[in-house]
Amino acid sequence: MCGIVGYVGNKSAKEILLEGLLKLEYRGYDSAGFAVINGKNIECLKCKGRVKNLKEDKKIGSVIGNLGIAHTRWATHGEPSTRNSHPHLDNEGKIAVVHNGIIENYVELKNFLLERGYAFLSDTDTEVIPNLIDYYYKLNGNENFLKAVKQATDELVGSYALEIISTHNLGEIIITRKDSPLVIGKGVGENYICSDVPAVLSYTNVFYYLGEREFAVITKNDIKFYNNNLESIKKEEKIVDWENSAADKGNFEDYMLKEIFEQPRKVEDTFNIENLKSLDLPKEYLNDLNKIVIVACGTAKNAGTVAKNVFENLCRIETLVEVASEFRYRNPIIDNKTLAIFISQSGETADTIAALKLAKSKGAKTLAVTNVKGSSITREADYSVYTLAGPEIAVASTKAYTSQIALLTLLAIDFAEKLNRVDSKIIEELRAELPNIGSKINFILENKELYHNIAKDIIENRDVFFIGRGIDYAVAEEGALKLKEISYIHAESYSSGELKHGPIALIEKGVPVIGIITDEDLVEKSVSNMQEVISRGAKSIVVTNQEIESDNFDYIINIPKINKLLSPILSVIPLQLISYYAAKEKSLDVDKPRNLAKSVTVE
Ligand code: M6R
Repeated sequence: MCGIVGYVGNKSAKEILLEGLLKLEYRGYDSAGFAVINGKNIECLKCKGRVKNLKEDKKIGSVIGNLGIAHTRWATHGEPSTRNSHPHLDNEGKIAVVHNGIIENYVELKNFLLERGYAFLSDTDTEVIPNLIDYYYKLNGNENFLKAVKQATDELVGSYALEIISTHNLGEIIITRKDSPLVIGKGVGENYICSDVPAVLSYTNVFYYLGEREFAVITKNDIKFYNNNLESIKKEEKIVDWENSAADKGNFEDYMLKEIFEQPRKVEDTFNIENLKSLDLPKEYLNDLNKIVIVACGTAKNAGTVAKNVFENLCRIETLVEVASEFRYRNPIIDNKTLAIFISQSGETADTIAALKLAKSKGAKTLAVTNVKGSSITREADYSVYTLAGPEIAVASTKAYTSQIALLTLLAIDFAEKLNRVDSKIIEELRAELPNIGSKINFILENKELYHNIAKDIIENRDVFFIGRGIDYAVAEEGALKLKEISYIHAESYSSGELKHGPIALIEKGVPVIGIITDEDLVEKSVSNMQEVISRGAKSIVVTNQEIESDNFDYIINIPKINKLLSPILSVIPLQLISYYAAKEKSLDVDKPRNLAKSVTVE
């Protein structure tokens, strides 16, 4: 989704802005633009398509200045075009604004401004903002620009992260936000702004996180913070301990491939017991719980489905998994005896954050599981724990998924030890497996030729089915999501036993069915389900750590044995790589699949 970068200092702003925008390309976008203060004027350059179009624009040489704002746009209101891309200016060209989010009442505001003689050049919701600021600035007698910004944002309904520059307040960038993230990177004699830390991580690792409806006025030597009444406030510096190189591709062709291969280390890092030190949920509280609700979107939701199996097995607490966009609009049955867990790699997913606020309002304790320290979700939740996956750049989530499962398993073990509802041997056995998991993932990664061959064999198919039982079904869900989002092959997941209740009608000669079979208690049943599809002509692919007759299947992917509750961390790896190679074989942009955004900050 849209990305924001800002710079004020002594260097050429455009170089830093463009580099920052390139680092945010992974978020997904369809147009880009930036504006700098050149002497006493605002210079603006915008384009449809990639940031490289801006770099190649003949006019770029004349856009000079040391202070600027920049944006990559993911269209919501108005088609992707130069006209609709940001920054947007007021009618006099004295105020420039970039905006992430959606202004829900923009039609009403636009009519208000049209009646007062303002004209509009784009189809966007954003264009009302610079004009509304202008309206208030004039109403205030051309004084106090910050106050005009506050008055204008008081009128906005919806979500926004805003960067504003103006010839009325030369040398300053004003920023504010509501339900969309913005951070400030602190430099020496220069300061940076961004929607995501990787954009400026090569310049600084000292950040300030702007809170809801707060304002910051940023100059090259100073950052002033204000609350929504424009009273001065103090903010704490946060050090981001991600290595700068963590946001680079290294020797890999794509971020996704790099992130898949990082999993042995990231999973082991996340399993580091130190990780849960900050979380102290007492035994009495856990004993009193009537249920756990896990809420998330996409891959994070799929990690939640794996975790449901782990919590129920080890803690004997009913655990529900909910899609955040549904949860937030019903009246879920939760109370102060519910622990609500919200999983989000980015910590910025709008639906997940809204669901968290709802759960909190109903008295549930809320726990965020995220990869990004200081992200919006951590500011809302009662407790936060962190996966140690490092920055995940590829839109398709891989290392975040396995790290989320690792962290949630650790959490379930911690709860189980306090609750003492299952035989302690079960926990001991599980713990004993943790130190070896990295080498088992490495073993699976070595077999990439097989995954590549399978990918080549399925790319001409219209549909692919993923099936499994119990915890294997949870992995099937993730396998199907991965394949469809990056290779654009239609993929569905079904619990194996459900096939004959309808979906089996879709199986005919050559349709690939990928079965995940790791649960030794269900192996015979799962093999029978595979036989059923084979008899109907399916191309059969099995991922297993059980001894099963390989002759029956077109492809068999053997993975190391491991405790059933940890098996998803292993069985998902071949599925990630099959999807990756399928997308590569189709010459698709693996890291930036069409229509998708890394961080979904609007609902
Ligand atoms: O940042 P989040 O974990 O909250 O993101 C949730 C989903 O948008 C995300 O997992 C999405 O489904 C990915 N594209 C999956 O690969």
